[in-house]
Amino acid sequence: MVKVTVCGAAGGIGQPLSLMFKLNPYVTTLALYDVVNVPGVGKDLSHIDTDTKLESYLPENDGLEKALTGSDLVIIPAGVPRKPGMTRDDLFAINAGIIRDLANGIAQFAPSAFVLVISNPVNSTVPIVAEILKKNNVFNPQKLFGVTTLDCVRANTFVAELSKDKEASAFDTRVLGGHSGETIVPVFSQSAPEVYKELSDEQKAALVHRVQFGGDEVVKAKNGAGSATLSMAYAGYKLGHALLAAINDTPNIIESTFVYLKDSKIKGAAEAFKYINEKLKDSDSSDVDFFALPVVLSSNGIEEIKWDILEKVDAKETELLKIATGQLSKNIAKGTAFIAGN
Ligand code: NAI
Repeated sequence: MVKVTVCGAAGGIGQPLSLMFKLNPYVTTLALYDVVNVPGVGKDLSHIDTDTKLESYLPENDGLEKALTGSDLVIIPAGVPRKPGMTRDDLFAINAGIIRDLANGIAQFAPSAFVLVISNPVNSTVPIVAEILKKNNVFNPQKLFGVTTLDCVRANTFVAELSKDKEASAFDTRVLGGHSGETIVPVFSQSAPEVYKELSDEQKAALVHRVQFGGDEVVKAKNGAGSATLSMAYAGYKLGHALLAAINDTPNIIESTFVYLKDSKIKGAAEAFKYINEKLKDSDSSDVDFFALPVVLSSNGIEEIKWDILEKVDAKETELLKIATGQLSKNIAKGTAFIAGN
């Protein structure tokens, strides 16, 4: 019996994401929540002849409470997306408040749920959720995921385009750091060594840049109509499905996610925190409490953080990680301060 709740279910990401969860055999109840249009989306999906029970809720009549109560996994693609010329950070002013309110709902009505945060800027929205859950004494770092899967998905696709003999599905690229511009650090030296070693320095730099700014290709092509929705829904579903499989005792699943490190009891968290803050960050900036890293999933959620990849990356990637931590510490502090000031 698994209940999944999608917050922002009527949006560009929310609709295809909800469709995919309606098809997932692990999901017994799918609850959709949005501030608009969700009854129509829910009614439409409810006609699909899979066994998953569909519920849809607007805010009125305690909709958020009903959507969240009993939920095992809450996935959040709520908020505004980018338009051309905007960075993910530009979204903070609107999305921070939306995420704060949803996180308060989760703390109250689904305190034990796994929470997957898609809404941007992920580098700041995930710290907001963590702060709210901490304030309510229900924070469990094993259960909070910043969704960076799309960066891995893009990295696989883009490196495959440069490969002579392998398709995208042959790659499983690790992307470290965060989820915006230069905080996104794909580590092809570890994930796709055969292709990587054939590339010139210019080609390597162009490949990394394409992963870091791949979202801009979509924003530009959509020409004002938003950012990635279908590839994002796929990526969010990929992580959600992996987690559902782990909850159902499939062993040794590894996914990358933006995970909380500081004071966390998760295996590898203390080592990751120490390495990032002592070796990759200058001592003046505030702590990098979160980082995208490969994690091993289990029925508890994040069972182990595979931090040793940080020690293995090459010199150029180390340089990129240092640039990432400088920005990340500010992004994280911005999210944390938003709750401290509220
Ligand atoms: P959208 O505008 O199509 O959909 C957002 C939905 O959220 C709308 O249906 C809206 O009514 C709903 N919403 C707004 N306030 C809400 C609230 N308080 N409670 C519940 N729902 C609420 O936007 P789209 O394209 O689906 O993007 C959603 C978010 O995902 C954006 O912040 C975007 O930047 C982010 N995103 C994240 C990616 C990642 O890799 N993590 C990739 C692409 C987008």
